[in-house]
Formats: sequence, structure tokens, C-alpha cells
Amino acid sequence: MEPETLKGRAKGMKVYIETYGCQMNVNDTEVVFSILAGHGYQRTEDIAQADLIMANTCSVRDNAEQRIWGRIDQFMIQKKAREGVLIGILGCMAERLKDALLDTGKVDIVAGPDAYRSLPQLIDAAREGHPQMNVLLSREETYGDISPVRIDKNGVSAFISIMRGCNNVCSYCVVPYTRGAERSRDPHTIVREACEVFAAGYKEVTLLGQNVDSYKYEDTDFAKLLSMVAGINPQLRVRFSTSNPQDISDDVIYTMARYPNICKHIHLPVQSGSDRILQKMRRRYTREWYLQRVAFIRSVIPDCGLTTDVIAGFCSETEEDHLQTLSLFEEVVFDAAFMFYYSERPGTIAARNYPDDVPLDVKTRRLNEIIALQGKMSLKSYSADVGRTFEVLVEGPSKKNPDELCGRASNNKMCVFPDTVHKAGDYVTVKVLSCTPATLICELV
Ligand code: SAH
Ligand code: SF4
Ligand code: F3S
Repeated sequence: MEPETLKGRAKGMKVYIETYGCQMNVNDTEVVFSILAGHGYQRTEDIAQADLIMANTCSVRDNAEQRIWGRIDQFMIQKKAREGVLIGILGCMAERLKDALLDTGKVDIVAGPDAYRSLPQLIDAAREGHPQMNVLLSREETYGDISPVRIDKNGVSAFISIMRGCNNVCSYCVVPYTRGAERSRDPHTIVREACEVFAAGYKEVTLLGQNVDSYKYEDTDFAKLLSMVAGINPQLRVRFSTSNPQDISDDVIYTMARYPNICKHIHLPVQSGSDRILQKMRRRYTREWYLQRVAFIRSVIPDCGLTTDVIAGFCSETEEDHLQTLSLFEEVVFDAAFMFYYSERPGTIAARNYPDDVPLDVKTRRLNEIIALQGKMSLKSYSADVGRTFEVLVEGPSKKNPDELCGRASNNKMCVFPDTVHKAGDYVTVKVLSCTPATLICELV
């Protein structure tokens, strides 16, 4: 079918998308809006106005999926109330569950992470009353030529996906199954997109991938890519996520140190402090190796912000393993952590080979112990910044007080300070007066 015909049919159709899961999913939603806008669809943020209601979904833990099932039932209320409303499920849960979503009779469109270019065709056919599905994974698709329609409203910070998929196959993780094989995007398209967002007034880009340190496109590795993006303009901050401890190279750390506009923050998920568990998780580093990596980062970049992810109660985890995780947290002193208890994902190596044998009450207790310890460590880390000055990129008014602005320091810590003069996108210098475990309370200097 010709694009013109599609445009005619889509005219005025309003699309509402809810996004769940990681930052890559947020960026994917922006890609979807771009594809649909090119076919005459309009974006709406009001579900009651939408002709097409979609959720871009996450499968990483069972509760992420349970939330979506609940949302589908909410979407059904809209569908029953108005003529012709369609429901679409995008993303990782679409990829994992496939027909099971269509079989509910509630969902009209199922599209996996590599199938978004076909959405206009899927929608057209679904409007004829035939539920549609495309969950083909690709070895090439990077959406490299598509300029995402930015959905975050601060106009300061933009996500740029630099790669898709993951080849690591950590034993607990569903991502390699939902996102397929790893592929890196042409660096020229990445630099072009960063230039575009900078020209549009953005001051920060976050380069996204499940494992950014394995980025490789012809001769360009991640360190080279970082220097290319950082070289665009000293006023454009560069962040990135996620780094896998086994792959972050010395070169990346030296490149960070060399460019003042590459933010001094590394998200370095450790997952566990026990070597036995790390091996079972198929993480290819040891506790000792992780600690050495942290020491090296801190020797090259003394004030580098460090955050992590951790899983409590993975298969066969003993009290001794758990204590190893606690002691690692105490040793490293992360600024913040995303903390989860293990959720078995069907089809993963762990689900196929190891019983999910840590009882839920034990998982919860261990998780709570990690959360409580991390609370103390966060306070320790934030307290260490009291008295220091930072350059902050203003993101907008603080949530609590309209006379205060907020923005992040290079190390990714959130700063709030009284200011009625500056605006989102300005750089300001602040001095830290006090803190909470998640905020630096500052004044302008
Ligand atoms: N690519 C990133 C992680 C992406 S998933 C990395 O390798 O570090 C984000 C986080 O979800 C993971 O770091 C892990 O801590 C958590 N996670 C993944 N699978 C999980 C599972 N089955 N149960 C609980 N947490 C999980
Ligand atoms: Fe999952 Fe491991 Fe890939 Fe991260 S590196 S997305 S945890 S398989
Ligand atoms: Fe979730 Fe898929 Fe991201 S499983 S964490 S949305 S890659």
C-alpha cells in the first residue's frame, strides 16, 4: 500500500502510549511516535481522546508484567465506551508472550521491539477487524535513520539509543530473548542525532544500550563514540547507561576523564557480592575484579558517581552469599542502587536449570536489609559532598517548591536550590549546604 493512502486513512487518528521499563523503552516510544507521525497519526496524552491506546511494555520481572495485565483491563473500559478504539501492546512483553496477548481477545495489535516500522500496516489491518502481530526480531534494525519525537517535556535531556539487543545471556535475564541479538548503530547517525537535539536546545544526551561498552561499529568502539559525541560542543553534556563491569575498558574511563562535558557517573550493576552467585548468574567477573574496577575508576576520576543494580535471593543464595552482597555495598559506598528480589523469568537459563528455591519471605527480608544498608550508604555518599561546589544543569522547578530549581551535578546527584532567575537548560554553580540520602540541598554561588 502507498504511504499516501495510509496517510489518508490515519488522518486525525489519535495515539496514546504508556511506557514501562527501562530508558531504552522510553526512547523506543519516541521512535514509535516518529514513525506514526510520518503516517499522519497525532499524539495525545489524554487516554479518553485516543483512537489507539498502546502500552510499551517490560518483562524484566513478573510484577512488571502483572501491572500491564491490569492496564489492559483499564484500556478495555475505554474500548467499550467508545466506537473503534484499538489496543496495542508493544515492547518486551509483546515479544515474550506473542499470541497469548491476542488470545485474550482484548488486544488488537502486538508488536515486538524490532517491528515498529510495520506499525502503520498493522494498525490499518487491525482497523479492518483483524488482530495483527509482528514479533520478528532483527539482526540489523537500529532505527538509525529515525529522529525520535521527544516525549519528555523538560527539553533539556534527550535519550539516544546507540545499540539494541544483548548477547550476554545472564542466566536470570529475559532481555536477550525479548530484544534479540546485539547490534550497534552507525556512529554517524548517532552524532547527527546528538547535533540535532543540541541545535533544538537540548543540553544533555544519554547514550543508551544494555551493554554500552560492547558498542562496536566498524572501527568505532565505545570510547571513540564517546569522544565523537563529546566533541560536538562543550555545552552538551554526555551521559551513558548501562556499563557491564566485565566490559568497561580503561579507554572509556580515560576518555571520561579527558572531556569535562562527559558526566562523571557510571551505572555499574554488580548484581551480587558473592562469587558463587555471580558465576551462577553468568556474570563474567568476580567480586575482587569488580572492586578493582571501582578502585581504578576512582583513581582516574576521583569524584566519579557510582550507582548499581542488585538482585537479592537468586537461586541457591545462602545467608553467607547475602552477607557478601551486604559487605560489598558497605565497601563500595554507592550513591544509589536499584534493588530487586529475584523474579524467575520463563525460558531463561536460570529458569531451565535452577530451582527458584529462596522462599519469598527470605528474599524480601534480604532485599530489605540491602535497602536499609544502601540508605545509610547513600547518606554517607551525599554527606561527603556537603561544602563542595558543583556545576548543575538546570532541569526545571523543584517538585516541592516553585521558588526552587533542580538539576543534576556531573556525578548525577540531584541538587535543589532557591532560584527564580535561571531556567531549564542553564548551567549554574551551586554550593552544597546539606543533604538527604537522595538530594543535595544547595545555594547559588
Ligand atoms: N543490561 C543491564 C541490566 C538491564 S535489566 C546490565 O547488564 O546490567 C535491569 C536490572 O534488572 C538488572 O541489572 C537486574 O538487576 C534486574 N533484573 C534483571 N532480571 C531480573 C530478574 N529476573 N529478577 C530480578 N531482577 C532482575
Ligand atoms: Fe540482561 Fe545481562 Fe544483557 Fe544486562 S547484560 S541485559 S542483565 S543479559
Ligand atoms: Fe524491561 Fe525490556 Fe527494558 S524487559 S528493562 S523494557 S529491555
